[in-house]
Amino acid sequence: MAKSLFIKTYGCQMNVYDTDRMADILAPLGYAMTHTAEDADMVILNTCHIREKAAEKVFSELGRLRALKDAKAARGETMILAVAGCVAQAAGQEIVRRAPYVDMVFGPQTYHRLPEMVGQAARQTGTVLDTDFPVESKFDFLPEATRVEASSAFLTIQEGCDKFCTFCVVPYTRGAEFSRPPREVVAEARRLAENGAREITLLGQNVNAYHGELDDGGQWGLGRLIREIATIDGVSRIRYTTSYPAEVDDQLIAAHRDVPQLMAFLHLPVQSGSDRILAAMNRRHTAGQYRELVARLREARPDIALSSDFIVGFPGETEEDFELTMSLIRDVGFIQAFSFKYSPRPGTPAAAMPAQVPEDTKTHRLAQLQGLLEQQQIKFNETCVGRDMAVLLDRPGRHSGQLVGRTPYMQAVHVTAPDHLLGTVNVLRIYSAQTNSLAGTLLHDQLDNTRQTGSVERTLTA
Ligand code: SAH
Ligand code: F3S
Repeated sequence: MAKSLFIKTYGCQMNVYDTDRMADILAPLGYAMTHTAEDADMVILNTCHIREKAAEKVFSELGRLRALKDAKAARGETMILAVAGCVAQAAGQEIVRRAPYVDMVFGPQTYHRLPEMVGQAARQTGTVLDTDFPVESKFDFLPEATRVEASSAFLTIQEGCDKFCTFCVVPYTRGAEFSRPPREVVAEARRLAENGAREITLLGQNVNAYHGELDDGGQWGLGRLIREIATIDGVSRIRYTTSYPAEVDDQLIAAHRDVPQLMAFLHLPVQSGSDRILAAMNRRHTAGQYRELVARLREARPDIALSSDFIVGFPGETEEDFELTMSLIRDVGFIQAFSFKYSPRPGTPAAAMPAQVPEDTKTHRLAQLQGLLEQQQIKFNETCVGRDMAVLLDRPGRHSGQLVGRTPYMQAVHVTAPDHLLGTVNVLRIYSAQTNSLAGTLLHDQLDNTRQTGSVERTLTA
């Protein structure tokens, strides 16, 4: 009998990918995805533990779901309630204690065991808890990735992190670095392309630490993998995220120079512009080394634009340290960024450091930093007016006859265009710019499905 499954996804793109894989693995058990928790037979919260607020949200959501579960029970029906992801990994016992009505709690490395857990949950009372770091890789047990709903698809190639930045929970929740073999990744990329994906974003907590083992014992780094994926028919855009600056190697820089499908946009988190703070964060690179890296990337690909992650108010951050971050933002000219107030995470070294920065100082610095980044974003968007840019039209617009797409720089563009162009790359002439989006007119139809698309983008956006 058909059963309905609702998965709510928090946090990073890797969770988005995991959510799709959970849906794939539950489909043979009769679960079909639905868009609301009301009446669902199973609800999974795929959670994020990166900042305190992200984790707190889970407990308030669980309270709300409990009411739905109770209402179903009153009608003689059941709802399986599960918590997955990094909150489950880091605070599994706490969930069992604070929310005993939850049926299953499992971490990011064990969701291939979901069918087993569902069976267990049906048989026993009390919560099924599975937060191991198993020796087997979940990727070996999952059905082939099939869920492509859009022309842009995620593909997880690497997981985990060994860097231990002193503020970060990821190494504790996701475990050690692991790379999927190139054979497996390339096969998955092929299937995605066959199912209509034009853009593939390679994912990993530390994606450029990728070192996939070949059958003959050799290894491929990320640069080599990108070259291979670029040969797949239909793949006109490649992106990767998130990268660790100290691990950008010559091969990867060369891929930016040589592979036209690799978009001229890179998310490269730097966190701070102060060497003192970077050292306290255990980031293994200085601000100067980061600048040099950006210069080398620009030499290889002159039209490359950068975005980043920033943390303000890390323990011990002074006004001078903060000013160094602001200078770095101006000098590199980031066109976009995610920025956060430092949030102490239990069990991480930084949480125990003296000189925690007061909340109002963090708030003030964050506003200043975001103000600067917004100015830079608007300025960059304005430089796009009058240019012809390649845009992947990936969703319908708000009004009929309108489509929305993304430029190589991830800017959203609104355009009047026929529906059959959905899922294709087209050249648009940009005529206006707002803070968060552009508007353009259609110049040519269907540049897509050829490997030339990237080179068109290159000449057009240079
Ligand atoms: N692997 C990536 C990012 C991991 S988490 C990297 O190399 O940086 C995503 C972002 O969340 C981080 O880049 C950081 O800016 C932010 N973040 C992580 N832990 C945080 C914390 N304790 N407080 C505030 N921001 C944090
Ligand atoms: Fe976190 Fe640093 Fe790794 S931010 S994910 S510990 S590179």
